Amino acid sequence: MGVLPLKILCIGDIVGKPGRQVMAELLPSLIEREQIDLVVANAENAAGGSGLTPPLFEKILRTGVDICTLGDHTYRKREIMPILESSDRLIRPGNYPARATGKGWTVIQSRRGTAVAITQVMGRLHMNPIDDPFQAIDRILDEIPRAVRVRIVDFHAEASSEKIAMGWHLDGRVSINFGTHTHTPTADARVLPGGTAFVSDLGMTGPYESVLGRRKDRVLKHLLTGMPFFFEIATGDPRLCGILASVDESSGKALSVARCDLCGTERDGAYDADDGKGLPKN
Ligand SMILES: [Fe+2]
Ligand SMILES: [Fe+2]
Repeated sequence: MGVLPLKILCIGDIVGKPGRQVMAELLPSLIEREQIDLVVANAENAAGGSGLTPPLFEKILRTGVDICTLGDHTYRKREIMPILESSDRLIRPGNYPARATGKGWTVIQSRRGTAVAITQVMGRLHMNPIDDPFQAIDRILDEIPRAVRVRIVDFHAEASSEKIAMGWHLDGRVSINFGTHTHTPTADARVLPGGTAFVSDLGMTGPYESVLGRRKDRVLKHLLTGMPFFFEIATGDPRLCGILASVDESSGKALSVARCDLCGTERDGAYDADDGKGLPKN
């Protein structure tokens, strides 16, 4: 008794170089100031807006992130495959086919030595076909050792209805359930009655003068003409977005949750060499 609650920071989709720069600029001091015990970040868009590479994964860990989750862009950069196999600090959605490279959950230690389980599943509404995330998360939660009371779920999904339903499905069974993928922060962060800290979407960590991180002029050209255009990563108005939750480590229940959205410094020349490939999607 008398142990201070664990402070866990969950950071939304890091998009391209502006996202990585704002992490390096703001995260170390935030960890220090708020005495944060564990940092989870979604890194599916870290490399040029789609996927993650080994050097960028290492860079993100050096900013203070303890564990990265991915999403529908997991396999965009094939060079991440060996890390997906070997690292306990990188997971992909657990409802991919069982033969897919990587793992859907992991257990790591917080800065003060508390075991914390992190898992991720992906939604089905307006997403590519994938196994039922509700059944998958039930299976995963059964697989995690019972002694691990602090449990975090990233639900990577498009529709807020599906995300809110997942929040109720998990209420009282996990410490934190946050949503990722839409790149738009939602204002519904709250602790559900069973003790699960919930938010529909963490929002993007990247340039907000954009359409989901891509240059707004390029996306508008596409929408106004129906013609394909190259969607470079934008640079304006970089922000770090997510939630900060406190969790009782003995019960695994969340005690509080608040949005944590911070503005960074805009930089010129923040483009990646391969930014802009692909569609106007997150
Ligand atoms: Fe996504
Ligand atoms: Fe994303």
